[in-house]
Amino acid sequence: MPGSKLSVVVTRRLPEAVETRLTELFNVELNELDKPFSPDQLVAAMQRADVLVPTLNDTIDARILAQAGDRLRLIANYGSGFDHIDVQTARQRGILVSNTPGVLTDDTADMTMALMLTVMRRFKEGSNLMQSGDWTGWSPSALLGSRLGGKRLGILGMGRIGTAVARRAKPFGVQIHYHNRKRVHSDTEAELEATYWESLDQMLARVDILSINCPHTPSTFHLLNARRLKLLKPTAFVVNTSRGEVIDENAFTRMLRAGELAGAGLDVFEKGHQINPRLRGLDNVMLLPHMGSATTEGRLEMGEKVIINIKTFADGHRPPDQVVPAML
Ligand code: DGY
Repeated sequence: MPGSKLSVVVTRRLPEAVETRLTELFNVELNELDKPFSPDQLVAAMQRADVLVPTLNDTIDARILAQAGDRLRLIANYGSGFDHIDVQTARQRGILVSNTPGVLTDDTADMTMALMLTVMRRFKEGSNLMQSGDWTGWSPSALLGSRLGGKRLGILGMGRIGTAVARRAKPFGVQIHYHNRKRVHSDTEAELEATYWESLDQMLARVDILSINCPHTPSTFHLLNARRLKLLKPTAFVVNTSRGEVIDENAFTRMLRAGELAGAGLDVFEKGHQINPRLRGLDNVMLLPHMGSATTEGRLEMGEKVIINIKTFADGHRPPDQVVPAML
């Protein structure tokens, strides 16, 4: 109805300032208890809202979309990755989808570097030793790790985050290698002194560290399958701050346990929070609970993006961060 406020349902708690501003602008339903929606609750929300603000915890597939109400016109995702949303089906049903790109880049790249250093320098074992009270003092032979400088870093996915990782790694003395669907601009390659590998297989065999920074799409699902993982050197470290689905987690876990890889820093897992239990308890594996973008600043900026996307849509324009199937 012209002049009336859009009805917006938000599936999780967002920063207070974001919720306040959303409430000023729209008819908003917040999730005060922050309990993730069940599929039925999600469908019900999609039947009563003009705009849904989901997060990566809400799987919005074709089955769920088929039950959405006619009034649902926009899914303004609070997050950059949109692999939990069937964008193609949404488009066919005339529902726009937007995300929050760009504002998570630096935080995620910072954490990628932290994970790299943590596993290579064995900080987890060092910290465990301190916490246990068993440390008996400095030793010339204790907890020797691998130096980051001089190593070859292979970046799988040289988009915003991959490039930000390369920019951070280079001053550490790391040599940058990358595989991407498209070669990046020659200026960026020159700035990073980066080597492009058209063949992922060839790059994998040559790198000391692999950082996964590509999105999860149908073509990157299990891109690192058992065969490709075996191409990595047994001294290689793997860091994943993108999406767990890019790695065959079971094959990867078997290799880590068998000592066929040097270590891993993982912020994301193939089945969300249901991680392979055999990944736990390994000294050379650092597991984090998907916190790559978990900064106060980042979460606020994500909220601002969501607000801009909805407001622009409400004003009759395309949301600036609209995602389309061609981006998959
Ligand atoms: C995203 O936005 O997709 C991130 O994975 C959440 O931190």
